[in-house]
Amino acid sequence: MCGIVGFVGTENAKERIVDGLKRLEYRGYDSAGIALPIDGKIQIRKHVGEITNLEKIIADDSFDAPVGIGHTRWATHGAPSDINAHPHGNQDDSIAIVHNGIIENYQEIREWLAREYGVQFKSETDSEVIAHLIGIYYDGDLLSAVNKAVEDMRGAYAVCAIAAAEPDKIVAVRKDAPLVAGIGRGCNFIASDIPALLKYVREVYLIENNETVVLTKDDITIYNDRGQKVKRDVFHVNWDADAAEKEGYDHFMIKEIHEQPKGIQETLMRRVDEEGNINLDGIAMTKEDIEGFNKVYIVACGTAYHAGLVGKSLIEKLAKIPVEVDVASEFRYRDPFVDENTLFIAISQSGETLDTLAALREAKAKGARILSVVNVVGSSVARESDDVFYTWAGPEIAVASTKAYTTQLICMYLIALYMGRTKGILSQGEYDRILNELKALPEKVEEILAKEEQLAFLAKKFHHKEHVFFIGRGLDCGVSYEGSLKLKEISYIHSFAIAAGELKHGTIALMDPDSLVVALATQDDLYEKMVSNIVEVTARGARVIGMAKEGRVEIEQVADEAVYIPSCADEVTPVLTVIPLQIFAYYVAKERGCNIDKPKNLAKSVTVE
Ligand code: G6P
Repeated sequence: MCGIVGFVGTENAKERIVDGLKRLEYRGYDSAGIALPIDGKIQIRKHVGEITNLEKIIADDSFDAPVGIGHTRWATHGAPSDINAHPHGNQDDSIAIVHNGIIENYQEIREWLAREYGVQFKSETDSEVIAHLIGIYYDGDLLSAVNKAVEDMRGAYAVCAIAAAEPDKIVAVRKDAPLVAGIGRGCNFIASDIPALLKYVREVYLIENNETVVLTKDDITIYNDRGQKVKRDVFHVNWDADAAEKEGYDHFMIKEIHEQPKGIQETLMRRVDEEGNINLDGIAMTKEDIEGFNKVYIVACGTAYHAGLVGKSLIEKLAKIPVEVDVASEFRYRDPFVDENTLFIAISQSGETLDTLAALREAKAKGARILSVVNVVGSSVARESDDVFYTWAGPEIAVASTKAYTTQLICMYLIALYMGRTKGILSQGEYDRILNELKALPEKVEEILAKEEQLAFLAKKFHHKEHVFFIGRGLDCGVSYEGSLKLKEISYIHSFAIAAGELKHGTIALMDPDSLVVALATQDDLYEKMVSNIVEVTARGARVIGMAKEGRVEIEQVADEAVYIPSCADEVTPVLTVIPLQIFAYYVAKERGCNIDKPKNLAKSVTVE
């Protein structure tokens, strides 16, 4: 996903910008570029591929300045190429911009600029129109030119602009794409994401929607869309840049898998006091609100959606409220039944996923109460929600989400328990029982992590498979979707998840001796049915890795391999069952020599539709 870094100081903008861009590499990108005002002109250099390619073409000392903007691009309009890379300049490169997001009416603007101003476009991007718009409105004041340009633009954007005639400033503006200004000493920064700045600053201003910000080396001024100055509290970033390092692991993904006991513990600790009560500090939702909800929508994308599938079972079971789970890109366009008695739960690691944010706004406009489950503090989803339930996973760098998922699950348990108890549906005894099961999870996850070698062995044995099926029933079904996603996204193996009972309605036709089936059989009351499903697929020659609770040794008689999770109540199995699936996917990808932390074609944070 695209990343923006800008610097205004007295020297060496190039070094700071390149460093910031490198810290955003984990988001995924296909080209990188930088623009600096040098000797009354703006010089733009950009290159397709990794940042190291850019570094080669900007190595000369004469290419540097006290001010500059940089960008990593993830192609949306126009293929990855040098020309389509950002920054983009206007006709004479007196203006340069970098842009995250999409300008929806760019075709219209392009035609108008070509017709009225004879503009000749260099790239195929939507972003280039922004540079030209600012260029035609520019009369010596970059701020007013940016404000005018924005009036013509429809879509989502975080834009940073520089002008050759004002080489001491950056003007930035945002709508539906994140932007953060970093407060330095005698210098200031602007970026799309906090990690880009952490080497240099810890104090930042979070720029809100429709705000414009002017940065000079001594000052950061924020304006609202009426041109009035806005006072913003300083946001202190207290997470450590070291947390974003690999700490001796080969990949961020395996490091993050190992961080799960801590993340689970932390997420529980923040909300459960010593007496075992769930505290909703900072959440305004009242008992009356909860009693008034007649429906819950859980909406998310990717892994977060899979956490929602488990959340549905939990809320329906523990709080007895009907729940619909939807992928955000579907929800937002299907005019869903939402009103003021609806609780809308958005789940998002980044808090910046465009579809999730748009779905949230759709629900909000229809009067729903918005509760979000988010990992990134101060992110857009968090800011636009009525209440936020933070996951305490810490920064997640690997594109394949692991610790965000398990901490999202913990939040879903706490939300379901709280609602059930508040409504008086869940007895104190049941509440205590499940809470105690949750508290025991960090230790049980550690037990599974200690089995890493067994999973590495299974990965060695099965990594050449080209089709893998994940099956399960009840809570195992939702987890099988996540296991399948993990495998396909990092190993590029075709994998498919299905409710085990549905197998015989089509998918079983695909079973043959080349198939591998990962069968999750952790639910006590569904165990025998799962054993039957395993027998059905082995009868067609498929190889099976069966997963069950410790003590369920019968599974060894039907499956080729057995993986056990520590014994626990059925309700909490998803948090444990997913761990071997994550580790298995990791080692399969490793066996296949894949780029595990940055899988091809994927991005950590999807801020475009
Ligand atoms: C991308 C990531 C996934 C993530 C999904 C939703 O596809 O690669 O790992 O689950 O976006 O992201 P969010 O930040 O909203 O949880």
